Formats: sequence, C-alpha cells, structure tokens
Amino acid sequence: MSLESIHYKTGSLKILNQRLLPTKSVYEEIHTIQDAWDAIKTMMVRGAPAIAIVGALTLAVELIKQQFESKTKLSEFVETSLTHLKTARPTAVNMTEAANRLIKLVEVLCQNSMSVEIIKERIIEECEAMLKKDVADNKSMGQHGAKVIINQCGNDNLHVMTHCNTGSLATAGYGTAIGVIRALHEIGKLEHAYCTETRPYNQGSRLTAYEMVHDKIPATLIADSAVAMTMKTKPISAVVVGADRVVANGDTANKIGTYQMAIVAKHFGIPFFVVSPSTSIDLHIPSGEDIVIEERSHDELTKMKGHQIAAPGIGCWNPAFDVTPAELITGGIVTEHGVFKPEVLKKEMEELGSYNIR
Ligand code: MRU
Repeated sequence: MSLESIHYKTGSLKILNQRLLPTKSVYEEIHTIQDAWDAIKTMMVRGAPAIAIVGALTLAVELIKQQFESKTKLSEFVETSLTHLKTARPTAVNMTEAANRLIKLVEVLCQNSMSVEIIKERIIEECEAMLKKDVADNKSMGQHGAKVIINQCGNDNLHVMTHCNTGSLATAGYGTAIGVIRALHEIGKLEHAYCTETRPYNQGSRLTAYEMVHDKIPATLIADSAVAMTMKTKPISAVVVGADRVVANGDTANKIGTYQMAIVAKHFGIPFFVVSPSTSIDLHIPSGEDIVIEERSHDELTKMKGHQIAAPGIGCWNPAFDVTPAELITGGIVTEHGVFKPEVLKKEMEELGSYNIR
C-alpha cells in the first residue's frame, strides 16, 4: 500500500502527522480552519501541494457542518477562512492559488440564481476534486519527467539525486520529483536514487528515506554537504527537485539547499530538473528576487528533538527556502502539460491558459 498523507471522506479529514515520522505513524483529525492553519504552520503537514489540499479540504469539512443564512454570509466565510490559511506559510504559492480560485468560484456562483445549499455543494465538490487532480497531475509529470531524463541522460541504469521530500507525503499521492523517480523505477530504468538529509528539518532523512524504504526504491541517504562529493564519485545522471513557487522567468523557490545543488550540478554538467505542477507556477511575479522567503525558528538549527546541540547564545539565520536562478535549471521544468525550458515557461503556460488567478 502506498503512503498517504491525507485521509479524507466527505465531512472528515485526517492528516498524517509528519513531525512524528519516521518513528510513529499517527493520523490527526482536522476539524476547523484554525486546526489546519496550525497543522500547516507547525509542519504537521508540509509540501506545497499537500498544504493547499489540506487547506481546501478543511474548508469543505467546515462547510458541511455550517449553515449560512445568506449567500453573503457564505461568501464572507469562504473568503475569511482562505485568506487566513494563505498566511500560514508564505513561500509556497499553492495555498494562495487554491484560495484565489475558490474565492473567485464563490463570487461567480453567488451572482446567479443558485441556492446557498447548492453553492455550498459546488464549492465542496471543487475542494474534493483537488485530491484526484493532484495524483493525476503527478502521474503525468512522472511520465514526462521519465521520458525527458531518458532522452537527455541515457536509456538505462539511471542514477538520480533529489532534495527535500516531494513524494506521496508532500502531495495527495505519487509525488512530483519523487514521482519522476518512481516512474523511472516502475519502468526499470532507475538504477539508484540519492536523497539528501535536508537539514535543518530533515525532510530527506525522515520522509524521503522513509518513502524509498517503504516503496522498495533503491536509494542512498547522503548529508547535504556530500552533494559535490557524490556528484564527483557516483555516476549521477540527473537531479530532480520540487518547487514551492516557479515565477515568470523560471526562477524557482524550493527547499533551502536546492540552489547550491544546482550550482554543483552545473559544475559537473549534470542536467538539473524542477518538477512542478502548474499550481506551483506563479506568473504574476517576474523574477525570483520578489519571492517572499519564509524564515523559521532558530530552534530547528540549535536543537534536535528538543535537545540543545548548538552552542547556547549563538546567533542563527534559518531561511526555509532558496531561489535557484532559471539559468541553472538546465534540464527543464517538468509540468503536467510537458517539459519546458525556463525561458519559454511563461509563454507556454499562457497559451495553455494554465496559470494562477489573482
Ligand atoms: O518546508 P517544506 O517541507 O514544506 O518544503 C517542501 C519543499 O520545498 C518541496 O520541495 C516542495 O514543496 C515541493 S513538494 C511536492
């Protein structure tokens, strides 16, 4: 059975508490918008697509419970709830994309002659559809990504490096960058995956390593500081990473450490791919300079499971993400629609009509 970060049935939402992995597998019930905000903020659920899906499904759960005396009250509730959820984590665009799309939908539905109950049902359906669509998009990216890697890097015995966790745990299922690794594995082309531990929060050693072992994908864990050494001494064919926000010029915000991996890959001539559903693409921001980077608690650096590991009194800086400039994304940006070079991404997405609502 594949790992699932989200358990949803109409009226009930449970999420796998990723803070406890890999030692404990505990599903926590999410009842309210504030529960979802707290779960996202504290990274009980994390990964750009999973954050947005949990936010939207929490709205669905709340809507089922509540009665609204008018369309205005319903629309106010939807807007206030989603606006609040957008503030939990600022860098990933997916929650903002989902919120803006749902707010727009309510606005449109409220303008016609439907009843409050029917509008509620339509919003709930839209939230629920996100689960299925995310898995389908991930499978498409897996296919596109596997194909482009085989074309660019050779047909067999592929060795692929990845960073952070972009798998079933970070999405509704299958994964984005890990989805590409999974797709290569399924067709017998993957020789080996390398995953970085991803300090300071250890999404690589706690979550990606867990997924690799669970799904029997041959993989090796390396320290973040071993990236250059691994690229020098192992036959790394390609690097695949996820995205929290890909902007108009192709610059990409992703987990801290992605940027240095891209620099090292360029040094060794190893193709570097970003795997990003269109829900992580934000064409409203021209370049990476304008992306807001979340800074997290110093405790993530100075403590391990509550135990002090750094010298007390030391100053810290803990940005959770960095921005990889488009020119280092040498392999391409893999989306559910196909693979694009960063310089043509905006044009292609606009032609497809697939970009975020503002
Ligand atoms: O801080 P996190 O764990 O939410 O960061 C996750 C990442 O940076 C992922 O690479 C990104 O969200 C893509 S997940 C499919």
